Amino acid sequence: MKPKIGIIGDGNVGSALKRGLERAKYEVKNVGHDPKGVEETAAWGEVIILAVPFAALDDTLREMGKAAEGKTLIDVTNALAPDYSLALGCSTSGAEELQKKAPSAKVIKAFNTAFAAHMETGRVKNAAITLFVAGDDEEAKAMVLQMGRNLGFDPVDAGPLQNARWLETLGYFHIQLGYALKMGTEVEFKLIREAA
Ligand SMILES: NC(=O)c1ccc[n+]([C@@H]2O[C@H](COP(=O)([O-])OP(=O)(O)OC[C@H]3O[C@@H](n4cnc5c(N)ncnc54)[C@H](OP(=O)(O)O)[C@@H]3O)[C@@H](O)[C@H]2O)c1
Repeated sequence: MKPKIGIIGDGNVGSALKRGLERAKYEVKNVGHDPKGVEETAAWGEVIILAVPFAALDDTLREMGKAAEGKTLIDVTNALAPDYSLALGCSTSGAEELQKKAPSAKVIKAFNTAFAAHMETGRVKNAAITLFVAGDDEEAKAMVLQMGRNLGFDPVDAGPLQNARWLETLGYFHIQLGYALKMGTEVEFKLIREAA
């Protein structure tokens, strides 16, 4: 049984994931910057994807209120400061800080190391992009790994939520490759490994 997915954010990421998840036969609703709609969408969703800017996470948590309690929260944000530096360094991560602020939620870090342009299909240049998924709740993580597979990604269990530190730095490096080093958004990560 596929969970109902509430997506907070209807920008590049939120709309791409909505299209892909609907194609994969999930029931999906998303919402932009509308506090009442955020609360309603979070209450409706069995799983919530946070596809808002890192700086909007506190507002979003407040607006969701009790609607997010006990649910899987998928954090796709890249923890960037306004000057595009890494906001939190490497001794914690946005996802770990989110977990502290929403202790009853099952926070999962995923999708932050891919560009929005490929999130609908999980593929680029005819190859499945690696989807790194980190989190402490094994059942929630297995559900997100399956969601990634259903979208078309090559999902990889990236371990506990603490590993979000490395996924967020990898997301930062991805932005460096795509924009600062001008490789463009066609560049994505692929983990070569033994077949599972
Ligand atoms: N773009 C990428 O390739 C990419 C890749 C990986 C990860 N990410 C991460 O994914 C997140 C979303 O990126 P994006 O490119 O989709 O950004 P975006 O196109 O700017 O969309 C941001 C969305 O968040 C909404 N929003 C802003 N403030 C909000 C608030 N306080 N409460 C609720 N919603 C709010 C915006 O609504 P309004 O338009 O109504 O303001 C919009 O729907 C970011 O954290 C980014 O770092 C992006």
